[in-house]
Amino acid sequence: MTAAPEASTRPRPATTGVAPGGLPLLGHALRLRNSPLDFLASLPAHGDLVEVRLGPRRAYLACHPEVVLQVLHQARLFDKGGPLFDKLRLLTGNGLVSSPWEEHRRHRRLMQPAFRADRMDGYAALMSEEIESMLGSWRAGTALDVGEALRSLTARITVRTLFSGQIDDRAVAEVQRLLPVFTEGLYRRMVAPLGWTDLLPTPENRRFTRARVRMRAVIGRAVRDHLASGEDRGDLLSLLADLTDEEIHDQVMTVLLGGTETTASALGWAFHCLSANPEAERRLHEEVDTVLGGRSPGLEDVPRLDFTRRVLTEVLRLYPPAWLLTRVTTGEAELVGRRLPPGTLVLFSPYSLGRDPASFPDPERFDPDRWLPERARSVPRGALVPFGAGSRKCIGDDFGLVEATLVVAAVAARLRLVPRPGTRVRPVPRAALATGPLPMTPVPRGPGGVRAEGAER
Ligand code: HEM
Repeated sequence: MTAAPEASTRPRPATTGVAPGGLPLLGHALRLRNSPLDFLASLPAHGDLVEVRLGPRRAYLACHPEVVLQVLHQARLFDKGGPLFDKLRLLTGNGLVSSPWEEHRRHRRLMQPAFRADRMDGYAALMSEEIESMLGSWRAGTALDVGEALRSLTARITVRTLFSGQIDDRAVAEVQRLLPVFTEGLYRRMVAPLGWTDLLPTPENRRFTRARVRMRAVIGRAVRDHLASGEDRGDLLSLLADLTDEEIHDQVMTVLLGGTETTASALGWAFHCLSANPEAERRLHEEVDTVLGGRSPGLEDVPRLDFTRRVLTEVLRLYPPAWLLTRVTTGEAELVGRRLPPGTLVLFSPYSLGRDPASFPDPERFDPDRWLPERARSVPRGALVPFGAGSRKCIGDDFGLVEATLVVAAVAARLRLVPRPGTRVRPVPRAALATGPLPMTPVPRGPGGVRAEGAER
């Protein structure tokens, strides 16, 4: 990720404010439920730390990048908690992403080896196989839902790389089917103004519960098969072997949720942004033609795909999959001069940070060149945190970026993805910031481009 090592010219955090328009009893919960992205993006105008009310509960959105870093770098004081993680725990229990500080350290140390740089070679080879197989199944001129194809791709890649494919094809298809039920259900629960509505026997709640039971069975079977084999395959599941069944379930579920929808959403936005910005698309094609010369991309190409990386960084600024995150204070804390008693809910939003004009001039503009080193230097530290920061930073950041770079480069080397006329793509805030349906038609690159092998077969 391109990051600015120097401090920017943005003034230090100084102001606190209150979000306007709170309703009696509900506070801002309805705005957060009905138009969360507009609401969040409007808040930095009211201060560096802004108070919002979610029903009866007060919460504080850290709007200034420095305040966000203060929160993230004091992971023990600003611990995982609040509506997002409380609901996420329904699925991931005490998995890495939702566990409290104390347990987190032990499990992070245990899982880290699976994400080390020396593992990436093997992972990239499997990623390329899966990407080739996806491209081989596309037909030139025939529209497909690219979002769906990407979700399927990232689910297969996560399972094959981190679990040595021990979850069989049928189960992967089932995981894929169940994950969107969770990401949608989690979001509904997170923004429900009243905590008990998820207990009602509505069709949606029943679907969510059924999906949870089913997923538990799928993961349970994979774990049992693995333990029965007694084999150490050097994968993530082998690293977890000494944990209890419950702990293994929670970590597997965490990685499936963390590694699939996030990367797929970012990729969906990347193809959407490229199709809407022909000049960026042209430069991408130029880069992949020069770097790859007709080959499929591999890990060794990633460092040379500069423009591709800038496109992805810009996509993560505009459409960060993890668009709203929550913390709870575990002791007396202070932010921007405001005292926060233990149990205070603190929020930060990579989405509102990325669209704040005080950090990014002309923030709505898709401009990959903001990430050229000389321009990126003026971006304030903490303004671009799509993977979080500090000890709770995404464990799969390099994995996800390599995966996304390989997918964009492999597609761009052969094809253009053209949106089906009349399609309107808008951000759909779920547990990840999705594109919604993304019907696009693969079109082989012109005569100057590389032969569209996969698409023509
Ligand atoms: C573009 C892709 C991705 C994005 C934007 C993303 C985003 C994030 C963010 C923002 C966090 C920190 C949450 C917080 O601070 O509360 C996180 C944590 C995490 N992510 Fe990712 N992620 C991505 C890909 C992946 C992949 C590919 C994996 C695994 C294969 C993964 C697994 C995890 C795990 C296990 C954590 C918890 C880390 C910890 O607390 O120690 N993520 N991710």
